[in-house]
Amino acid sequence: MNMREKIEAAAARYPDQRSAIMPALLIAQKEHGHLPGPVLEEVADILNVERIWVYELATFYTLFHTEPVGMFHLQLCDNVSCMLRGSEALLKHLEAMLGITKGGTTPEGLFTLSTVECLGACEMAPVMQVGDDYHGDLDFARVDALLDRLRAVARQATGPVLAPAAPPGE
Ligand code: FES
Repeated sequence: MNMREKIEAAAARYPDQRSAIMPALLIAQKEHGHLPGPVLEEVADILNVERIWVYELATFYTLFHTEPVGMFHLQLCDNVSCMLRGSEALLKHLEAMLGITKGGTTPEGLFTLSTVECLGACEMAPVMQVGDDYHGDLDFARVDALLDRLRAVARQATGPVLAPAAPPGE
């Protein structure tokens, strides 16, 4: 099935097409990697809903990306529980380890680093979401080990050109 067919199949499960915008955006993002303007307009056209409704959802929720992101999107929670348990220091550590600042993507396209609001997993603060997975009770050592594991995953998937064994400059 192409993207249109998948969205139409998902939308058929909802009595109101506006309610299908979220699943449609998830389908479109999986297809395109992110959600640029023309894709948002295509989603609105497929659902026959107002374009502004689609834009509103796509730009409100951090699970949607209107800009390209790296192979691994590191979304570190910086809300109260995580902040009290060290997320600020973790952010600085991640920035130093990756050689980028918040909002940036590493040059080889492997990691994008963002901060997000509460991930609903405060009991294991500080927490970071990577793709569909949550990683909690983080400290510097656990973050370093996680980055190593993700680089290894990338090397298996893409080869060493895209996924260097260590961050640039190390
Ligand atoms: S404050 Fe970070 S998960 Fe709730």
